[in-house]
Amino acid sequence: MTRIFSGVKPTGHLTLGNYLGAVRRWAAEDQHRADALFCVVDLHALTVEHDPARVRRLSRQAATLLLAAGLDPQRCTVFVQSHVDEHTRLAYLMECTASDGEMRRMIQYKEKTASERARGGGVRLSLLTYPALMAADILAYGTDEVPVGEDQAQHVELTRDLAVRFNQRYGQTFVIPRTTQPKVAARVMDLQDPTSKMGKSHARTAGIIYLLDEPEAVRKKVMRAVTDGGSDVVHDRAERPGVANLLDVLAACTGGDPEKIAGQYDSYGALKKDTAEAVVELLRPVRERHAELAADPASVDAVLRDGAERARAMARPRVDEAYRAVGLLPPV
Ligand code: TYM
Repeated sequence: MTRIFSGVKPTGHLTLGNYLGAVRRWAAEDQHRADALFCVVDLHALTVEHDPARVRRLSRQAATLLLAAGLDPQRCTVFVQSHVDEHTRLAYLMECTASDGEMRRMIQYKEKTASERARGGGVRLSLLTYPALMAADILAYGTDEVPVGEDQAQHVELTRDLAVRFNQRYGQTFVIPRTTQPKVAARVMDLQDPTSKMGKSHARTAGIIYLLDEPEAVRKKVMRAVTDGGSDVVHDRAERPGVANLLDVLAACTGGDPEKIAGQYDSYGALKKDTAEAVVELLRPVRERHAELAADPASVDAVLRDGAERARAMARPRVDEAYRAVGLLPPV
């Protein structure tokens, strides 16, 4: 059976980008057709300046939201990364497989170092080695497919390279994974700056729709979205990024095709109004279910406990095998 692994990092409240690019597909498709694991990758949240209490809160919220979005613990494994030691055990072997040059080439590393420096802070070493931990997340489970948004594709490519290199050096150990991306909305853009990604850890929030935003807040953000010069509605990412983004979001919400949808509108106002309502309706059940689950944290804990146990049992044999393969003496 196909093995799927993916994760979300608790560095901020989950956004519409996370939902359309990743989580919705995990719930609607992936968990039904494969043996799937979905992880709150909390160790990755420590790669930038962080507040411990906030990471704890956001980790719990992310896990609750994954369940609210429809992940069913009877069908898939939902867990928290730091509960399963195999991730960090294997990450070290990945650091010993990767070169520092290939880590420095990662787009996210370049972007994040720039923003950490702009804030006057230092850059944590773990921000550089982050893709080694991400590769470990994926490879520990013999993953075939990694469903992610467009921004993570480069990290999955690197994971493939590391898996191939490891297998060549030390013998067949890892499955070579591949990325899957949604057809539309693989990169949802910030509503106030449609040339940059809608990101949960960005400081300016007016262009970011959070999954737990109240309907009125969603409407306001969409109605105030930056649109482009001109007034005709066309789907042109290069010339009209703001309008193209709204069309992508509307298409993703309604299951349509952005180019065709463009033909149905002759004003930005009408497009915004329909997009706002489509997003409100898409998120309504998730918000409602989240409220129910958040009122019963013990049930979420039980899911995470069971998930970690299952994940550990799946990862352990492969990580042990990798330790043997590189020449480490097995415990006696
Ligand atoms: P993270 O937490 O930034 O994002 C979680 C998922 O949401 C997708 N995504 C988006 N998709 C479309 N438009 C957007 N604006 C948008 N923003 C985020 C991401 O592509 C991702 O699929 N490094 C990962 C977490 C991770 C991981 C893994 C993922 C750690 N280990 C192993 C897969 C497999 C990250 O920071 O995702």
